[in-house]
Amino acid sequence: MKKRILSGMRPTGRLHLGHLVGALENWVRLQDQYQCYFMVADWHALMSEYEKPQGISEYIIDNVVDWIACGVDPQKARIFVQSQVKEHLELYMFFSMIIPLGLLERCPTYKEQMREITNRDLSTYGFLGYPVLQAADILLYKAEVVPVGEDQLPHLELTRQISRKFNNLYHQEVFPDPKALLTNTQRLLGLDGRKMSKSYNNFIALSEEPQEIRKKVQNMFTDPARVKLTDPGHPDKCNVHSYYGVFAAERKPQINTLCRQAKIGCTECKKDLASRIVSFLAPIQEKRRELLRNKNDILQILAQGRSEVLRVAQETIAQVKDIVGIKEHGI
Ligand code: TRP
Ligand code: SF4
Repeated sequence: MKKRILSGMRPTGRLHLGHLVGALENWVRLQDQYQCYFMVADWHALMSEYEKPQGISEYIIDNVVDWIACGVDPQKARIFVQSQVKEHLELYMFFSMIIPLGLLERCPTYKEQMREITNRDLSTYGFLGYPVLQAADILLYKAEVVPVGEDQLPHLELTRQISRKFNNLYHQEVFPDPKALLTNTQRLLGLDGRKMSKSYNNFIALSEEPQEIRKKVQNMFTDPARVKLTDPGHPDKCNVHSYYGVFAAERKPQINTLCRQAKIGCTECKKDLASRIVSFLAPIQEKRRELLRNKNDILQILAQGRSEVLRVAQETIAQVKDIVGIKEHGI
């Protein structure tokens, strides 16, 4: 039996290069080794976007199309939408009973977001419970492995605490002890050198038009010490140079030398990089256009994914209800 993996993304915007390099390439690699469950976390999106929820349903299809265009294979992995499996909410409710409030209030991601996100009101009951729903996502399918970025580690730790507490309280090994499989999100920083993120608007979307890609790359930050063309550059301090490592590794050593010897200017260097990103994305964008022509196929894939994961979800919920003494059909 292959081990089961669950991972998810929130449909809050178009996916970008960071999602591809940080998560999707990893998902694609894992498809053969594991039984993969890939979920669109729309309830999690709503927890922060509840004031303006309009985009969420549009991004569900948009993101799934990108997943498949990047190589996630619906024949191998199960792709589904969180809100279409109501059992997530039932398990979330059970877990809400046993998770100590202090653990949620002290969760570093919670504290950080409360501090840093100022353009919306996140002092809600729902947002505090964000990691509890995530624990339910994972444990509903008894997933043993969870591919996530480093920022999600506190949520995984809470998941393990909930799992252990449930098992201890009821003296049964119902839930596993899921392990994080770290994805290296640091490989690609944002265009301005900060973390690539929707809220910083420093990304290139997977569906970005070539013209827009060229413009964005031309505006990337470079080695600040390099003011004139004749100044020798420090490629190791330049974000453009690290992008070469991801999108044109074979050209990187050459760029490194030319830059240090001041034989290439930043404008030219970026123009070259932009072309390579454009051709890197071309087949993905072509696949994307093709998938969008048959939206019904996407809906079909999601329906199929739902029906497959639903069986597992219902089994877990039946088991949990039996243990805590809640009957399926009243008393
Ligand atoms: N919180 C995750 C993120 O923001 C998304 C997510 C929701 C998730 N449920 C999950 C990731 C379950 C892994 C497993 O990236
Ligand atoms: Fe960066 Fe290229 Fe300019 Fe060197 S030439 S500083 S690698 S953009």
